[in-house]
Formats: sequence, C-alpha cells, structure tokens
Amino acid sequence: MGIKSFFQSLFKPRDHGAQSLFSPNGRLELFFNLDNGKPFYSVKKDGKDMVKKSFLGFDFTNLAPIKSGLKVIRTHRKSFDETWTMLVGEQEKVRNNYNELAIYLSESEGLRRIMTLRFRVFDDGFAFRYEFPMQDAGVDEKKHSCEWIISDELTEFNIDINSETWSIPAYQPDRYEYLYEKKPIFELEKFRHTPFTIKTPTGHYLAIHEAALYDYGSMTLGLNENKKLQSDITPLSDGSRAHIKLPFNTPWRTVLVAHSATELLKSRMMYNLNDKPHKDFNWVKPIKFLGIWWAMFVGEFSWATGDRHGATTEHALEYIDYCVRLGISGLLIEGWNKGWDGTWIDNGDLFDFTTPTDDFDIKKITDYARSQNVEIIGHHETAGAVKNYEKQLPKALDYYKEFGIDYIKLGYVGSRMNARSYHDTHGEFHHSQFGVRHYQKIVELAAERKICLDIHEPIKGTGIERTFPNLLTREGARGQEYEGGGITPEHFVTLPFTRGLAGGFDMTPGLFDLTNFMRLTTSTLARQLAFYVCIWHGGLPMIADRPEQYLEYQDGFQVIKPAFKFLQDVPVNFSRTIPLLGEIGEFFVTARQDRDSKNWFIGGLTDQQPRKFSLFLDFLDSDTEYEATVYGDEEFAHYRDNPYGFKISSQKVKKGDYLPIFMASGGGVAISLKV
Ligand code: NOJ
Repeated sequence: MGIKSFFQSLFKPRDHGAQSLFSPNGRLELFFNLDNGKPFYSVKKDGKDMVKKSFLGFDFTNLAPIKSGLKVIRTHRKSFDETWTMLVGEQEKVRNNYNELAIYLSESEGLRRIMTLRFRVFDDGFAFRYEFPMQDAGVDEKKHSCEWIISDELTEFNIDINSETWSIPAYQPDRYEYLYEKKPIFELEKFRHTPFTIKTPTGHYLAIHEAALYDYGSMTLGLNENKKLQSDITPLSDGSRAHIKLPFNTPWRTVLVAHSATELLKSRMMYNLNDKPHKDFNWVKPIKFLGIWWAMFVGEFSWATGDRHGATTEHALEYIDYCVRLGISGLLIEGWNKGWDGTWIDNGDLFDFTTPTDDFDIKKITDYARSQNVEIIGHHETAGAVKNYEKQLPKALDYYKEFGIDYIKLGYVGSRMNARSYHDTHGEFHHSQFGVRHYQKIVELAAERKICLDIHEPIKGTGIERTFPNLLTREGARGQEYEGGGITPEHFVTLPFTRGLAGGFDMTPGLFDLTNFMRLTTSTLARQLAFYVCIWHGGLPMIADRPEQYLEYQDGFQVIKPAFKFLQDVPVNFSRTIPLLGEIGEFFVTARQDRDSKNWFIGGLTDQQPRKFSLFLDFLDSDTEYEATVYGDEEFAHYRDNPYGFKISSQKVKKGDYLPIFMASGGGVAISLKV
C-alpha cells in the first residue's frame, strides 16, 4: 500500500461487520450486524435463541426513513460495575453491572444522517436505545432547532410466536386498568401495553418493557406484517408518534431474560438504566395512610357536596383521630375542593385546586393533623383536563404546601387528556408524548417543592423514580377499586410478574369489609394482609378500608382487630426481597426484610386453587431466633363462602427451618418474623 492510500484508509469508514456483546457472566450474547445496510440484532442465552434476527429503524413525517443504507462508522465498548443505594424500594443496595456496545451508524448516501445504537447486556437481560446527535438534516435556521417527527419506530422483538404471553390491551378507554390475558404471540390481535411477559417453548421467561421514558410516546407492542412483535409508539392527536428535538435519546427498549417466573422479579435493570438523582431527596419519607376514600366507593360518603359529603371538617378531624388510634401516619382526603358536584368525570375544567368546599376548613384540619403528627395527603383530581390543571400550576401545589401538605395523590380519570368528556376520543392519550411531558412536569414541580406523589391514571413506570424518588407510587393497573365484579382471584397472582415489573403500585389493599354488597371482594382476610408484602407499593401503601372496619367490640370495649397488627408491623421500605415461589396467574410467595430492623416478612397469594407449601427459611440471618406470627387462612376459608376464615398462630423459627403454609381458594398468608 502506498503512503497516500495508507492515510486514506485511516480516514475511510471501516465496516466493522458483525459484533457480539456478552453479559458479565457470559451466558447472554447479543449479536449485531447490518443486512445490506439494514441494522438488526439477535440474542441467545446459553446458546439458545431468545430473540432471533430483529430489525431496527424509523419512519419520519418530515424526513426519509432511517432503516436501510446504513454503515458502521465506529464502535465503542465499555464495562460498568457499581452498587448504589435505593432510597425507597424493594432492595437497598442495587448492583448495576453490564457490558456496553455503542454502534455509530451513518447513512451511506442521501442526507448522510447519523444515529447511534447503544446496547447494554446485563446478566438478567439486555437493553438498547437509539441516539440522534445534533446534525444538519431537519435544522430550522430561524428557530435554531432541529426537529424530527417520528411517524413510526420500527423496533422488532422476533421471539418465537408459539410463546405464551401475559399482557393487557393498549389504546383502551380505561388506560391500564384491565385484567391480564394469556395468549400465544401468534394469537395477539390488538396492540398490547408493556411490561409484556413471555414464556418461551424453551421454558425461559422474558419481559419486554422500556426504561427512562422521557419526552416520547410510550411503547406498545403488536404483530407486524411478518408476524414479528414490533413497537407501536402511542400516537399524538396529529397522528405522529413523537416530535423530537435533536440531540435526542429514545427510552431504553428492555428485555429481561430469566429461567423462572420468580427470577424475573429479581431484576433491577429498569432502575439501573435510569440516572441517579441530580439532587438530594433525603427528605422523601415513605408512610402508610388511611383515607376519606373507600367510604365513597361503598356509598357511605360522596365526593360531591351535600348530605353525604365525605371531605367535611368533622369527618377529617374524626379520621385524624382514627390515624392516631390505629398508629397510621397519613390521611388522604378526596373531594375537598370545588368541582366535584355534577358529573365531574365529564367536566374536569371545573376543578379548582385552591378553593376548598364551604364545609372544609383546611387550616383547622391541617393544624389539627400537625398537632397529632399525622401527614395529610392532598388530592388533585383533574379528570384528564390537563389544560385546566396546568393553568393552576404551580399555584395549586404552593397552596397545599402553605398548609404543610407534603404528599399529593393525583388523578387523571378519562380516556383521553383534554377531551370534552370521558368517552370523547379527540384528546391526547395519557401514554402519548403529550401525557409523558405533563407527568414529568408535575414530578419536577413537586420535587422542587419537596412534595411526594401518588399518581393515579398515570404513565406506566419506567424507573424514573430512581432519578425522582418523590414519585413514590402510582396506579396504572386494575386495583381493588374494581372489587365488586371487576377482579378475579387470578388477577393479583398475575400482577407481580407483569405490572409489578414496572415498579410500585397503589393497589389500595387492606380491605377488612369483604362482603359489602356494594363491593364484594375476591379475597380472604389473610390475603388482604399478604398484599402488603406481595405487591410492591412504592413506599406509600394505603390502608384502604373505612377505619371503623379495623375495630371491633370485645367485652363492651372497642379494640383494634388482631389482624390489624400485621398492617401496623409491615414495613414501608425494604432492604432485601427474595421471591420464593411463583407461577404466573397461579401463586406467588415472597420474603422481604425490613429496612430499619432485622425482621422479615413473608406474603403468599394463590388463585382459586387452595395450596400448601413448606417454605425453606434459608434466607434468614444466621444465629438468630425469630418469632414467626402466621396470619393465615383457616382450613375451610374460601374467598366467596368463608372469607373471614382466619387464624393467627405463633412459633419460633431459625435459618434452615421449614415452615408449612396453607392458602385457601382466593386466599393467602402473611407472616411476620421478628427478632
Ligand atoms: C380514580 C382513582 O383511581 C381513585 O382512587 C379516585 O378516588 C377517583 N379517581 C377520584 O379521584
């Protein structure tokens, strides 16, 4: 080679061809290559196909697609390993260990746009995202900006179509609040939300989801014309999927790869793909709370003013006293402001977030709460009328803050944001880029004011609570509000393996009134206790029933029911979580250790099948004797016929012992193991 061609070869983009990237333990292998300029990846575990050849790309409204004609300019590899502390969570110390491969791509012709594909392979799964650096294509000189309008993201997940899947339909009026359906991939018709959980014919468990969803539509999945699973980004009302301003990184597309259903639950990959907090959040305090709330669901109180108005000064003071009596530190009060009278779900524009109803003396209530060491959890129901709500921000937050309210539950009831009524389909999907931007705005405004949030009708969790720990919890699934017809015993044994992979869930557990004719539940009493261990609540668990349900008369005196002791004891923050047993939709047993003591807690749930297990207590601390109190179903308990068939027993246990448990049909078990 002459000297000239030698120097030319140095500057000529080299085709790096096929690239492999292994997980730190070497068992997961991601392969990347170009097929005639079209980028694709595939993944194997222990040499077996998990994801076969899957293409990647984009269609744009204002530019040509990026999906072919690409070449590799450069690649870059790195390895990462650190352990960080989760402020509030299922686990205190989290290891973030991965190998990374960045593929710098460029179009060979035409606009010569550039795009980076960044892959990370962990021991428990893999993730990748698209990065668009600042460049000439699409630049608007006048606006000094560069906007690309995405009409489709073409990310394939080519997984064996005979695999079984568990998911909920996307683009439905009630957002994420559906029962999970089990179907093989080839039978999927409608688009599905993520987390999307899969069992392959090889017996592996996968879950497709996303991490760090910012300023972009959320990803749903459907089958493309080649019968492969492909992303379908929630559209905006203009039909596009997202307007992105360069430089821009998409959320991470994530796939967990596990050898069992319970193994899926051990992954913290979603959080690892989010940034650490940019400022101090040590003020965030997880707590339990009661509510002027379930009384509305069973018809005793109403949100609207009038005879049955729940949020009156008198009820609020009475409920604060219940908090003190029951030892619960927070109280949610819904229906306190103007706007609830009439059909509020169709009239979100009427909500006023700084004017209490005439019978609600906010100063007196918050002064009394403070004197009793009770935190008030405020409530902003928007009925999806985001325009009306944003007009009142940040004043609405400052108003609460003025009265010392540091927690707010938000609501976005409605099938679209900014629609004219619940069923009007002209607004924006909650899960679109529009919704994602709004939820982010409120999380940041709340963080600036040291306010913690519980968001109902939210955007799904993608781990941003690592960066914004004030986002304690959210709904985003069918919770106990649907008891009374909308829940099956299978539902809450499916959730840990599906929605549970997206972080904390305010499922409103703790119902003791199980046979109320307005809300007949699908649960035994022991199961209501088990929910506090089995379903990660995000650090803000509700004790959902009317407080008087936790009391009973004994010898003429009103006392706290014995079962309530478990709700007092169960922690709000954990140092370790060990899923013990589980099959999706059938049963689930998990153990968690308290963040503030050495105590352990175990929760178990079953479907309609009664089950017995012998739990191997090998995870307990050595040389320690525990007092195990078992809150369990009686032999003849049954979620329909005998939901109160309940018993409490105690015994001493230590590491290495076996503990027998029994769960009745629609039942469960809750165990405290105290040092
Ligand atoms: C729906 C929420 O999920 C529920 O918890 C709340 O009480 C109502 N909206 C009213 O805001």
